[in-house]
Amino acid sequence: MTADNRPSLLSVRPLTIEDAEAVVSLSTQLGYPSDAETMRGRIHQLAKSRDRIAFVAVFENAVVGWADASIERHLQSPEVVELGGLVVQEGHRGLGIGRRLCEAVEEWALQQQIPRVRVRSQIKRQDAHRFYLRDGYVHIKTSEVFEKRLD
Ligand SMILES: CC(C)(COP(=O)(O)OP(=O)(O)OC[C@H]1O[C@@H](n2cnc3c(N)ncnc32)[C@H](O)[C@@H]1OP(=O)(O)O)[C@@H](O)C(=O)NCCC(=O)NCCS
Repeated sequence: MTADNRPSLLSVRPLTIEDAEAVVSLSTQLGYPSDAETMRGRIHQLAKSRDRIAFVAVFENAVVGWADASIERHLQSPEVVELGGLVVQEGHRGLGIGRRLCEAVEEWALQQQIPRVRVRSQIKRQDAHRFYLRDGYVHIKTSEVFEKRLD
């Protein structure tokens, strides 16, 4: 049985500031360690933007996953909702929780009148690629990422 079949135990809701510590713990599993105070600041910024959204998955009263997304607007292409982060707690993977989080982002995208969701995923995350492909996402390109430090 998957978590999907047990809706009373699994729910997906918008992220709140009270979720900061759980989000930090999950972010560390994603490879991005942080701390609660920093996370509270980020959640505060996110809440101020109409172009951003984040959801948490709650399973048996514990936060076990999160997803965040934002509307990307560029001159050269139509608006797209970009799934910026997605993680499900180790030990709870393969239960349909990631799928439920993606559905929440996809529903939000449609509410914004944007019928397209994109995700950039590191080459090394082969398991996640399998997840996205199984979930209806199509591989459209491979990019190199460049960054310039200004400090
Ligand atoms: C990718 C991830 C979010 C998927 O969430 P999930 O709740 O495990 O996914 P679901 O249960 O909805 O779907 C299961 C599918 O995801 C894939 N999958 C990826 N990693 C998996 C894992 N560790 N365990 C089980 N399934 C996994 C499989 O394709 C699986 O389908 P299958 O059982 O038919 O092979 C989750 O595995 C995770 O947090 N991974 C580490 C962080 C990460 O890579 N995030 C994505 C960044 S782009």
